[in-house]
Amino acid sequence: MTFIANHIKIQPFAESLQGLDRFSKIAVLVDHNTSVHCYQKIKDQLPPHFLISIPEGEIHKNLQTCQIIWDALTNYEFDRNSLLINLGGGVVGDMGGFCAATFKRGITFVQAPTTLLAQVDASVGGKLGIDFRQYKNHIGVFAEPEAVWIDTAFLDTLPERELRSGFAEVIKHCLIADSQAWDALQSTSLAQQNWNQIVAHSVAIKSGVVSEDPTEKGLRKILNFGHTIGHAVESYFLDKQPLLHGEAIAIGMICEAWLSVRLSGLSKEEFYQTGAYLLSVFGKENLPADAELSTIAQLALQDKKNKAGQIQCVLLKRTGEAVYDVPVSQNDIVAALRYYQSLEA
Ligand SMILES: NC(=O)c1ccc[n+]([C@@H]2O[C@H](COP(=O)([O-])OP(=O)(O)OC[C@H]3O[C@@H](n4cnc5c(N)ncnc54)[C@H](O)[C@@H]3O)[C@@H](O)[C@H]2O)c1
Ligand SMILES: [Zn+2]
Repeated sequence: MTFIANHIKIQPFAESLQGLDRFSKIAVLVDHNTSVHCYQKIKDQLPPHFLISIPEGEIHKNLQTCQIIWDALTNYEFDRNSLLINLGGGVVGDMGGFCAATFKRGITFVQAPTTLLAQVDASVGGKLGIDFRQYKNHIGVFAEPEAVWIDTAFLDTLPERELRSGFAEVIKHCLIADSQAWDALQSTSLAQQNWNQIVAHSVAIKSGVVSEDPTEKGLRKILNFGHTIGHAVESYFLDKQPLLHGEAIAIGMICEAWLSVRLSGLSKEEFYQTGAYLLSVFGKENLPADAELSTIAQLALQDKKNKAGQIQCVLLKRTGEAVYDVPVSQNDIVAALRYYQSLEA
């Protein structure tokens, strides 16, 4: 077992279940995929409980699905001594946590993340919420779960594309905070990774950063490396050929590393190494024609981190060290996207 912070445990699921008899009622929230692939594996280890099942995918991370969850908790007569276990990826965790934190002003919940992205990122840091209209994570709260139970055996059934998408956040954590781990990461392929070790390391970085700056006034912003341009690319492709989050963030990290050479002193050598590794893992996506790149840059203006209409980016000083609040212009972003576009597939 690995303890990262008091409440985050990386161990086989069954070992996390002690002390649940103090709860009056327990429910497990799953989506249709985690119901089949994850819940079936662990249901016999759990004490008596209710099951709440919701449709899978980001398009269901909305108020309508919250209503299904709140309805179930109401029908099962959940109270402040009850527990909700969110067994799933970031969608189940963000939305289940939001529903628990708001139901009767807050009941206890546990995150049991089953995707790599949720294990290394979404389940850590207390951000909960849902999408509203076309805005991602528009309605939400900060609230900490009672515990985070991470069992990397759940990753066995995760589609490879989803695994790779989560791996973008693993790469990001190394690039912003740990040059040694970054060097080690590049010498193994996705298939060879030791997930217990990788997840423990990544969670330690994220929870360390979050504990210094829980509400994102300063340092926590470094977790957004790759995300200013990455989110803009993700939004651009949303109604076309949607990219997974990590796929868009990989593009964002290449572009923001390119800007780092110009604006924050990243060496060319470290930049080429970073770009080459990201391309080797994610391949090259086709961005739209040159004239459309400014549409993507425009989308970066929507970023929550901007101040008074000025785009603020996280850039690298060197691999393993990031700086935040670096002003960049829309032209800078277009130039970075143009660089990405010029790369060989
Ligand atoms: N709260 C935060 O700080 C934070 C951080 C990053 C991302 N997020 C949120 O996380 C969400 C994305 O998370 P995600 O990538 O985990 O998406 P997801 O929850 O949609 O899971 C991806 C897919 O994998 C399936 N799945 C999950 N576990 C599986 C398993 N073990 N085996 C087989 N299939 C499985 C799911 O049903 C889904 O189809 C987004 O909504 C994003 O906003 C939140
Ligand atoms: Zn991300």
